[in-house]
Amino acid sequence: MKLLETLNWRYATKRYDSSKKISPSALEEIKTAIQLAPSSYGLQLYQVLHIKDTQLREQLKAAAYQQPQLTEAAELFVFCHFDDATPQHIDRYIELKAKTQAVPKETLLAYGETMKGSIVDLPKEQKQIWMAKQVYIALANGITASANLGIDSSPMEGFDKAAFDEILDLKSKGLQSAVILALGYRSEEDETQHQTKVRKPLEELFTSI
Ligand SMILES: Cc1cc2nc3c(=O)[nH]c(=O)nc-3n(C[C@H](O)[C@H](O)[C@H](O)COP(=O)(O)O)c2cc1C
Repeated sequence: MKLLETLNWRYATKRYDSSKKISPSALEEIKTAIQLAPSSYGLQLYQVLHIKDTQLREQLKAAAYQQPQLTEAAELFVFCHFDDATPQHIDRYIELKAKTQAVPKETLLAYGETMKGSIVDLPKEQKQIWMAKQVYIALANGITASANLGIDSSPMEGFDKAAFDEILDLKSKGLQSAVILALGYRSEEDETQHQTKVRKPLEELFTSI
């Protein structure tokens, strides 16, 4: 399918056919697309939890207003950002960059300090908003990659974040939940798939200045 056809095919799936599973290779491809998302400075100040435990998924569903995707979808991911952006995160990125690109770490230290200078002392809440925004880019990559494979998805924010953080013990992991991504195959009974997409016309969405 061409990209626009694919993007028209996808929709925020409400009901999944839970008998259909995603192949390991397709799942790996979606994860890799999420990994390849751009992020500010490349820091990737987030983590994606792959929730496999069925009991945990039931608990999360209760904290997500009983939305059926939480338990019907083949796979469930909770995208989280870090609770804080710290000098240690930047040091770890510098180490990874040095190793990956086979350059001496010393040549990157000044760059690391520049990043620390612009990030670390910002108010914590501002940092959290900044990190959360980037999680959504990774989410979008996951949605598009899934559609490209003919796999349905549901981005979801309709959940009690405090309850999710508690259930998943995120505080101890230095994380905060941001958004859910459910993946699987649409149920024939999901009426939403037949609804025409509602989007603003391009002339309204874009303004030429
Ligand atoms: C960040 C975000 C959060 C969303 N949260 C929910 C949700 O909790 N439950 C739900 O059924 N749909 C949710 N949606 C789906 C949107 O309602 C849907 O994307 C929108 O109506 C456009 O429809 P389409 O994606 O099917 O084209 C969410 C979408 C986004 C991007």
